[in-house]
Amino acid sequence: MNGEKILVTGATGLVGSDFIGRYGSKYHVSAPLPNELDIASEPSVRNYFAAHTFTDVVNFAAYTSVSKAQEEAQRCLKVNVGGVENILKHLPSHTHFIQISTEMVFPGTADDRGPYAENHPLPDPDRLTLVYSQSKNLAERLLDPQNQRHAIVRINSPVGPKRFPPKPDYLHGPLERYIVGNLYPLFIDQWLSLSLIPDVSESLIKIINEGLTGIFHISATNTGTAYNIITRFLQKLGHDTSQIKTTSVDPNRYLQYGGLNPIRTQEKLGMSYGTWQDIEDRLIKDGFTA
Ligand SMILES: NC(=O)c1ccc[n+]([C@@H]2O[C@H](COP(=O)([O-])OP(=O)(O)OC[C@H]3O[C@@H](n4cnc5c(N)ncnc54)[C@H](OP(=O)(O)O)[C@@H]3O)[C@@H](O)[C@H]2O)c1
Repeated sequence: MNGEKILVTGATGLVGSDFIGRYGSKYHVSAPLPNELDIASEPSVRNYFAAHTFTDVVNFAAYTSVSKAQEEAQRCLKVNVGGVENILKHLPSHTHFIQISTEMVFPGTADDRGPYAENHPLPDPDRLTLVYSQSKNLAERLLDPQNQRHAIVRINSPVGPKRFPPKPDYLHGPLERYIVGNLYPLFIDQWLSLSLIPDVSESLIKIINEGLTGIFHISATNTGTAYNIITRFLQKLGHDTSQIKTTSVDPNRYLQYGGLNPIRTQEKLGMSYGTWQDIEDRLIKDGFTA
């Protein structure tokens, strides 16, 4: 058992659950449910932090429904911004804080396009059209990348080998729809990338073990269109994609030119994330389950 004592919020989610599955029994990990630790409630955070000790906090917890956030802006901001404020306010001074973030802190527009490097300037939140994007951008602004306790880990379109029941990921979702003949038309002009969830977990444990701070991008090294990424995956699984319909992205609802450039992170962590094609091939080779 390693000496780190890690508090994980959002441990029941798509990404956090993989981290718990891999490291929950190898490390001293606390993974409270939201009814034990509600990051949006300052008293809840204060009480929990007063009663427990830990060396690291990984904050996966977030309001993550991008579309619903447009209708529930206050709720989204309360969790994603207020939650980080509460954690930082009550974080013991020696504790390492790792905030999980997203490419959506950037606009993905033609005049400020991805793939974004770790040192790409964070835009003013007013430049972002989506409440979710604004909330994650505002949360990052609460952290100080120069602070020797703070780390920001950005990911994009996380995908894993297993279907995550409540929320199929970026490859499981379209596959399921394809199988039942209900696949939506795919964007031919939206550029994005993938993050392999096991790579996210492995990178996080390195960041924790080495006490690293600053900004990290855990992502494939290249981007592709939504159409290319999904059709290639379906083809690799033996499906006929000739009848799949295409459409154009609405840049008010989605990043058009997204993606993260992970080159500095790979060097710093000694990791190699590969291309999105490599990620798809790894998923299939390792026994992707629909
Ligand atoms: N999925 C993506 O496409 C994506 C892309 C880029 C970045 N990210 C970021 O990655 C992180 C993890 O995302 P995910 O996809 O794993 O999210 P997810 O599956 O929606 O899980 C979110 C987790 O946060 C918990 N949570 C929500 N509100 C909370 C609160 N007030 N207090 C404590 N816990 C709370 C949820 O618990 P309940 O389920 O019990 O509410 C759940 O465990 C998030 O920070 C997200 O912004 C995700």
